[in-house]
Amino acid sequence: MVTIVEPDSEFSAIPTVPEGVFTAPLRRPPHIGEDWLEPQQRAYTSDDDAIWNDLFARQMDILPGRACSSFMAGLQKLHLNRGGVPDFGDLSEELGKLTGWSVVPVPMLIPDHVFFWHLANRRFPAGNFIRTRETFDYIQEPDVFHDVFGHVPLLTDPVFADYMQEYGKAGWKAMRYNRLKALGALYWYTVEFGLILEHGEPRIYGAGILSGPREAVFALEAQSPNRIMLNVDRVMRTDYVISDLQPTYFVIESFEDLYRQTVERDFDRLYRNLHPGFTYANAAVIDIDDVLQRGTQEYHLRGGRGSDADPV
Ligand SMILES: [Fe+2]
Repeated sequence: MVTIVEPDSEFSAIPTVPEGVFTAPLRRPPHIGEDWLEPQQRAYTSDDDAIWNDLFARQMDILPGRACSSFMAGLQKLHLNRGGVPDFGDLSEELGKLTGWSVVPVPMLIPDHVFFWHLANRRFPAGNFIRTRETFDYIQEPDVFHDVFGHVPLLTDPVFADYMQEYGKAGWKAMRYNRLKALGALYWYTVEFGLILEHGEPRIYGAGILSGPREAVFALEAQSPNRIMLNVDRVMRTDYVISDLQPTYFVIESFEDLYRQTVERDFDRLYRNLHPGFTYANAAVIDIDDVLQRGTQEYHLRGGRGSDADPV
């Protein structure tokens, strides 16, 4: 029998990870404190700025008409087209006026509980480094382009901005129940790889899709993946792919709908009934699904990344 302590009412201190809860074994660099923040954003070279500009230009060839309107509006509001890697101080000032969020530099992936703590305080931790020409098309660790171009524009949307803060707060509860994996699946299928309906058509709001060229086309146009309306209970039981295109995308009606489905529900009962592992495979279509498109899964059946399978 697990005893559940009542949730904290405030989130000012970094949470302590309960005993027995698995966290990734990340080694904190010596110059970094417990908050995992870099003392300042790195100084970028002209090559770094040129990489940002080329990545930006490539996405802007693809995203208009595919990215959701809040994302495109966010790019403009934050003047992300001004050239070069954006200064986090400038971004934070503009974002602060719009929704009270800021962008803070971190050296690498940071532990879940620290990530939740920053989100709960409306701080978005962004990778400090930028990819190289050699890793231009694909990197595993999120860099400043993924984090700032992919995630930050949507923080200008008031409802999405609130969702992200509530997600951070929800991390406390997930840790107490040892259900971080389930909450991670929710993040994956919404914040990283989510689609949203606009005028009845899916558009992209997930940063993992928005920050790369292949998946933006695959997620919307390929016959291969499933596109299913989001059901939070189902998604939190669903496995996901980390290093390839997704076999399934989940679609929301609106950010208000996402907020309602997650923040306004009580996760206690859900966590008590969840198994520690996932119930559904990432390509599964189940009885309760509201399916927009049942995918052929052709891309993954032919071997996915590293094979000659054509994504679209
Ligand atoms: Fe991300």
